[in-house]
Amino acid sequence: MPIVRGLPRLKAIIGDLKKKGRTIGFVPTMGALHEGHLSLIRQAAKENDFVVVSVFVNPIQFDRESDFSSYPRGLRSDARRAAEAGCDLIFAPSAGALYPPGFQTFVDVTRLSLPWEGRARPGHFRGVATVVAKLFNLVSPTRAYFGRKDAQQARLVQQLIEDLHFPVILRVRPTVRESGGLAMSSRNSLLSPSERRRASGIFDALQEGGRLIKCGQRRGEAISRRMRVVLRRIPDVKIDYVAVVNPKTLEPLKTVRLPAAILAAVWMGGVRLIDGCVVSTKKG
Ligand code: PAF
Repeated sequence: MPIVRGLPRLKAIIGDLKKKGRTIGFVPTMGALHEGHLSLIRQAAKENDFVVVSVFVNPIQFDRESDFSSYPRGLRSDARRAAEAGCDLIFAPSAGALYPPGFQTFVDVTRLSLPWEGRARPGHFRGVATVVAKLFNLVSPTRAYFGRKDAQQARLVQQLIEDLHFPVILRVRPTVRESGGLAMSSRNSLLSPSERRRASGIFDALQEGGRLIKCGQRRGEAISRRMRVVLRRIPDVKIDYVAVVNPKTLEPLKTVRLPAAILAAVWMGGVRLIDGCVVSTKKG
């Protein structure tokens, strides 16, 4: 499986696939692939003729240099795991190739970028939207695959696709979890074994929120208060936010209407973890 670094080579391969009428599934990642990514790649392989996975630790979406430099990296093992899951090509550009000297065009999804992750990490979503728009232009995917764990990011990408008329079908896939419930994330590798065990309490809090909604609780604030109680049981956790929101606008729901999204972000030691789920009318 080729690992393509240069834009001209990628363009040539994509151009050839398009000429032959092949469908392209695209899984954008920052590497350190885990089971969550692999499930997206497998799904992309099921639904498309050709699967591209990008591996690019996007510098402009990090608000802290220490977060960028400590982000786990390992292209060789990523390539092996991606190929096993059905990837046909890895696109791993350099930062200089995507942001050459003189680069000055950014994409802002204005309102959806403001709350939650946007407030905690200024400039983060501008970086995400800009790189996703660039990658969509370069890869020309038929379908693009994102995880539901990053609920705000997935919603923002949906808006980006609509607003900029990208001919891309968005597939938002369920969160893959470790056995204790912790959502798979590249950042989990930065947790100590004890932190990793304790972090499964985030899922307990989400489940508690979902349970209350299913039992008929409709006061958003009461639900998030109860979830905070569950989260505070995790030793050494620092809660950033917990919210029950409208999945379309991401605005907090005073009175919960379904479907509703539950979002949570916490710090475990020096690692920031986010998780989320959607509670819909469907059972389960
Ligand atoms: O979710 C991620 O890994 C990143 O935000 C993405 C979508 C690959 C953009 O850099």
